Amino acid sequence: MPGICQHAGKEIAAVALRAYESGVQAVLLFGIPKSKDEQAREAYAENGVVQNAVRQIKRHAPDLTVITDVCLCEYTSHGHCGVTRRDGEHFHVLNDESVELIAKSAVSHAVAGADMIAPSDMMDGRIGAVRTALDQAGFEQTGIMSYAAKFSSVFYGPFRDAAESPPQFGDRRSYQMDPANADEALREVELDLAEGADIVLVKPALLYLDILWRVRERFGRPTAVYHVSGEFAMVKAAVRDGVLDERAAVLEIMTSLKRAGADFIITYWALELMEWLKE
Ligand code: PBG
Ligand code: ZN
Repeated sequence: MPGICQHAGKEIAAVALRAYESGVQAVLLFGIPKSKDEQAREAYAENGVVQNAVRQIKRHAPDLTVITDVCLCEYTSHGHCGVTRRDGEHFHVLNDESVELIAKSAVSHAVAGADMIAPSDMMDGRIGAVRTALDQAGFEQTGIMSYAAKFSSVFYGPFRDAAESPPQFGDRRSYQMDPANADEALREVELDLAEGADIVLVKPALLYLDILWRVRERFGRPTAVYHVSGEFAMVKAAVRDGVLDERAAVLEIMTSLKRAGADFIITYWALELMEWLKE
């Protein structure tokens, strides 16, 4: 992903401070652990990479909203978003076992100081489980941004390489949504709101503007959209080839996302965008 890199723990506070000073309202953290295993142990370790980063950021940029992505795929040796069981040719993602570890990860992020937790795994019942776990641990004020309508998409490709988390076998179609099914997306959003999501998110962005619009119209709740790595990479390639003007293209994309109903936009252009918006 051109211009995008992983940050070491010791530089994360400076990066976050720069974001805050440029006017970015919130950051979304993804962790790349030292080691991966079947139980995703580093995902809920007290001194895990995200937990440490949250503490660093909160120490140096206390007013920057810190949202943490919660998923197991960066932490499992096989790269799936949950705990799996294999039998011969087939594998199953174990929903309830996964949800338990996801809730445990969420609490560990809240303990470290995260303002909001963003479960991105798409397991059933995880929003309710995360809400209950946070409340029981005394984190009633910690919010939840649910990746409620996350489609199974080829546009996540560059992220999976950057996050070193491509599935080692099978694919994610058993838990991510079918791009052809809009009704399922609306049902998932409704369920997540009922389970306690504060913000619902649609992902990817430009190919799913119809979903974004319908979610915002139907539920009238805070809605976010994630302009994903493949969508970013497409524009970057066009810019590199001299066929698009980056600033103009990005401003038009962001305008479209707002117009379609986004209250929040997650984008890899956040820092540059803040500069462009000031011009
Ligand atoms: C992992 C996760 C993914 C993205 C965000 N969190 C990849 C996936 O689900 O395969 C994609 C982000 C992007 O493409 O920019 N749960
Ligand atoms: Zn995942």
